[in-house]
Amino acid sequence: MAFTDKIVIAHRGACGYLPEHTLAGYAMAYALGADYIEPDLVSTRDGELICCHDIHLDRTTDVAMRYPGRARADGRWYAADFTLSEIKTLLARERVDQYGTRVFPGRFDANAHGFTVPTFGELLDLIAALNRQSGRGVGVYPETKSPEFHSAEGLALEPALLALLAEYGYTGRDAPVFIQSFSPTNLRVMRQEMSSELRMIQLIGDTEIEAAWITPAGLDAIATYADGIGPDKALIAASDGAVVRAAHERGLLVHPYTFRADELGEGYAELAAELSAYYFDYGVDGLFTDFCDIAVQVLRPNPALAFNRPAKAG
Ligand code: G3P
Ligand code: CA
Repeated sequence: MAFTDKIVIAHRGACGYLPEHTLAGYAMAYALGADYIEPDLVSTRDGELICCHDIHLDRTTDVAMRYPGRARADGRWYAADFTLSEIKTLLARERVDQYGTRVFPGRFDANAHGFTVPTFGELLDLIAALNRQSGRGVGVYPETKSPEFHSAEGLALEPALLALLAEYGYTGRDAPVFIQSFSPTNLRVMRQEMSSELRMIQLIGDTEIEAAWITPAGLDAIATYADGIGPDKALIAASDGAVVRAAHERGLLVHPYTFRADELGEGYAELAAELSAYYFDYGVDGLFTDFCDIAVQVLRPNPALAFNRPAKAG
């Protein structure tokens, strides 16, 4: 695949179909034809990077039942308080909210067993093995979660992430990896202080404070340390695509989030139509979706079997 091609980013694996951040979900995303697989990363107490969206374990695992006495004063169970071997005893499951109610009620069986919390290394092993098997060049798109929290805990994410990526051969500008973060400091540390050449994406939320990043001055600043932006899709719609054009004028890629068949953007009756509008009308370069098969169909209608679709040259 050429780096100029539009890409499909499998958000938290194939979480429209299987529990988020599980090896089964990542494998399904691969087989459905994703170009990049997205893990969110947090650290264990012993400094291992695990794939988990939250710094807490209680919304996506059975930690509260397994370790009832290990919550902090705020009533939450933190990954940073558990060793990897403890976390490996947990069951991963469909996400619930603070009341224990499923966030996406129509998704996978919330009581299913058989899923565990993967390490980032296990995901990199899986991608490497599947790339060998299929001849494809699927990449990885890790997000550092709450880097300032981790640094304060003595568990800095930046050295652990770059070391593990290097161990798996992800070095240099052409490596099939994007590192994403909501924290500009986190990206600056890796690009400017640690001299990483890996491609970096500045995530931008839909808040008043973060809106400053999509001004001309904000985008100019991002272009000094990152290769693209990952905005909330609402920011693109609100600007009628002007954000995309302004980013492209500065050489920045645009990868908005998050596209879901069971949580459509305003004004869309089906996910394919929403994806098509963002890829082709707004002109984004890629996007994060929980339903990567639908995005693959929008970008590459009638492809050969997704698993062994040959990589394009370049
Ligand atoms: O990483 C892009 C998007 O995933 C950011 O939102 O909360 O799903 O990590 P979140
Ligand atoms: Ca993410």
